[in-house]
Amino acid sequence: MKNIGNNQAGRESFTTKFGVIAATAGSAVGLGNIWRFPYLTGENGGAAFLVIYLVFVLVIGIPVMLSEFVIGRSARKNPYGAFKKLAPGKPWYLVGLMGVTAAFMILAFYTTVAGWTLEYLYQSVTNGFVNKDGAQLSLMFSEFRSDTWRPLFWFLIFMGMTAGIIVLGVRKGIEKSTVIMMPLLFVILVILGIRSLTLPGSLDGLRFLFKPDFSKIDSSAILDALGQVFFSLSIGMGTLITYASYFPARDRLLSTSFSVALTDTLVAVLAGIVIFPAAFSFHIAPDEGTGLVFVTLPGIFQQMPGGAFFASLFFLLLAVAALTSTISVLEVIVAFFVEELRLRRKMATWIAAGTVSLLGMMCTLSWNSLMEGVSFFGLNTFELLDYTSANILLPIGGFFIALFVAWFFGREKRMAELSNDGSLKAGYIPVYIFIIRFLAPIALAFIFLNGIGLLKM
Ligand code: PHE
Repeated sequence: MKNIGNNQAGRESFTTKFGVIAATAGSAVGLGNIWRFPYLTGENGGAAFLVIYLVFVLVIGIPVMLSEFVIGRSARKNPYGAFKKLAPGKPWYLVGLMGVTAAFMILAFYTTVAGWTLEYLYQSVTNGFVNKDGAQLSLMFSEFRSDTWRPLFWFLIFMGMTAGIIVLGVRKGIEKSTVIMMPLLFVILVILGIRSLTLPGSLDGLRFLFKPDFSKIDSSAILDALGQVFFSLSIGMGTLITYASYFPARDRLLSTSFSVALTDTLVAVLAGIVIFPAAFSFHIAPDEGTGLVFVTLPGIFQQMPGGAFFASLFFLLLAVAALTSTISVLEVIVAFFVEELRLRRKMATWIAAGTVSLLGMMCTLSWNSLMEGVSFFGLNTFELLDYTSANILLPIGGFFIALFVAWFFGREKRMAELSNDGSLKAGYIPVYIFIIRFLAPIALAFIFLNGIGLLKM
């Protein structure tokens, strides 16, 4: 076997720096940036939410991401196997197991929304929004969502595309597809941003996004911001442990973590620049919730010149962004199956995709009469998986990942990993250690307990 693209252990790895960044930023950039971030920002008062979000990216997001890189690249295993290898005989593997569980949950509800983007892409291309007013578009969305076969059909198509890439492996599947899809995504986003900013009255939208009003911020908004950082950066469940296990030995982990976090944040802000100016320009309230991009945006598109074209571009953007993320979540489960259950990649992929689909189909039917009666704490299956994974499982995972690297990893090994065996200076290490030892875990525990109401500020 050729050595290029394989690391010492005979495992596949990414071949170029651009491949590393395209794949990892591809995981981070997704529906979280273009669907979730705008509606959370809209609901939580705009710019003030953005400010809190940015602070969390810097003091919690990047350090936890770097910690996942350290664990993954040094162990070269799936999250469960990595903790087993690095802390033999200790219960740390439970953190990895929790990650694999979170991967099941996230992939289930995420692929549901990804399927919707295909339906909306289809509608845009076939002019399906023409002459519909706001109420009709809203009805169209809720009728589609509560239908049985259409959402299931798109769900399965999307899951099939995800599995189709993962079957091909790390280099031929993940790397090759993301180095094409990520640049495409940027081009589309910039075209849409220009379109939105050149609409009359777009400045009000920018003001909403960039002029903070802190009166809307309470402890649940703060927990939402934290959950969003974890969700958007794909941290806290081992996706990045898995991807880092494919990084070349020479990769500079700190620079990769900054590039990924920067790309992710840039895309979220750009998505805001696409959506809010357009919404304000057409006098539509920005706090539509989860329907923001499926109800509000089609309404906007069909009022603007060239609307069908821009709508098609937008939903293509969403689908591409979602696909570079779903592959990273499926890869967590597949790597786990391959390494721990000794399955072949092909078999592992179809078993993983199949079992996730069972849960995913229940999610997809959350608004259907078949599943409508099923609710937990007032949330349907879909909402329950979304809320629990982002706001609970990921922050808990991140808490333990930071603590593990900070206190249990071993100083020399950590130093070797961060400095590529002494070939980089890595002068930032003391700051990083301080953050993952004290700042990040304390902040996480505090926001978390406060957000779920166990601690009252
Ligand atoms: N980060 C992805 C997004 O923003 C979602 C994701 C979460 C992917 C967790 C992998 C792991 O859309």
